[in-house]
Amino acid sequence: MTTIDISSRAVEIAPGVFWVGVLHRDRAIFDSFMSLPYGTTYNAYLIRGKEKTALVDTVSPEFGELLLKKIAGLVKPEDIDYVVMNHAEPDHGGSIPRVLSVAKGAKLVASQKGVGMAKLYYDVPGDRTIAVGEGDTLDLGGKTLKFIDAPWLHWPETMFTYHLEEGVLLPCDFFGAHIAPDSIFEDEVGDIVLSEAKRYYAEIMMIFLNPIRKALEKVDKLDIRVIGPSHGPVYRSPWRILEAYKKWAIGPLEPKVVVIYVSMYGNTAILEKAVVEAVEEEGVEAVVYNMVSADISHIVNDLVDASAIIFGSPSFYGGAHPRLASAVELIRTIKPRGKMVAIFGSYGWGGGAAKEIKKRLEPAGFEIIETLEIQGPAREEATERAAALGKTVAHRVKALATSVP
Ligand code: FEO
Repeated sequence: MTTIDISSRAVEIAPGVFWVGVLHRDRAIFDSFMSLPYGTTYNAYLIRGKEKTALVDTVSPEFGELLLKKIAGLVKPEDIDYVVMNHAEPDHGGSIPRVLSVAKGAKLVASQKGVGMAKLYYDVPGDRTIAVGEGDTLDLGGKTLKFIDAPWLHWPETMFTYHLEEGVLLPCDFFGAHIAPDSIFEDEVGDIVLSEAKRYYAEIMMIFLNPIRKALEKVDKLDIRVIGPSHGPVYRSPWRILEAYKKWAIGPLEPKVVVIYVSMYGNTAILEKAVVEAVEEEGVEAVVYNMVSADISHIVNDLVDASAIIFGSPSFYGGAHPRLASAVELIRTIKPRGKMVAIFGSYGWGGGAAKEIKKRLEPAGFEIIETLEIQGPAREEATERAAALGKTVAHRVKALATSVP
């Protein structure tokens, strides 16, 4: 176990490769979306060759001075030759202006699109940039950086940096997790790393399924000994996160249904209980979220490997309840792999929730298996129909599981 205080110190993660990132332990939410019970880190890495020094990524702007202080424990910041920008988003690129103001001779290295974004976001002039593409290399003197295009992971300009000699992959957001740990090494942190990496994958990556699969193919061809993402711990056993990503992006879906509902007078809640009971009686897992109190980042986490989604909404002035509608909108946007959907709910006089949800989801490729709207109180016949809906979904989920080779 690392005993040094990593909040103020650099950590060598491979010969000549140093983590110089910062901890943001009291950050509570990311993208105004994802709750951060363990805070986060902004990881930057300093790589020293015999002749040149490169800084790969920077940190959120409010931590720029701390980054420079950490670098100063290793080299004079003004001696940095290259600042590699894997990704322009401000949590990583935000300290580029500060670093370049100190390292006056340094060039910014980025993808072609990245160079444009560096100008837009950080006002980096063209004569201080070097554009690189797939397979291009940068020789630091006995240490070679190779660049790998990784568009959309997580912005269109994103690339990975791979240290050839040491087998260190620095993929920015890819493989990240929002945790501000006591040790920077994943094997010294514990099981929360992979569970938080999954939640991170759900929010940031899942929408980009094809780019993820392409990147995994590229990564598979590399000899990787260490993975240093831009959030959370560094993997000295890279297979752990590689296998997890393959499972989430390529592996079979789980026999699991996510049930998301909200109820106003308790009738939709009665239907929800009947649906869930029926799903579970069929041996299929049901994970239930009540939108009155649910954390939406936990919902998307479950959608990484769920086979189906069941929405329960009372009709609210002719449409879905607004709290439920926000979940529908989110799910439509993030595109989970499991696209089977059923909808249930109650209404007082006119209905309309199921129709509205269907209208939003079908054009986005979701298959609406069944809808059920009950007028008035959820009495016995209504709960029987809700149970039948639950069984229909469970049967489809089981059929999906058996159809996967
Ligand atoms: Fe961690 Fe896409 O920035």
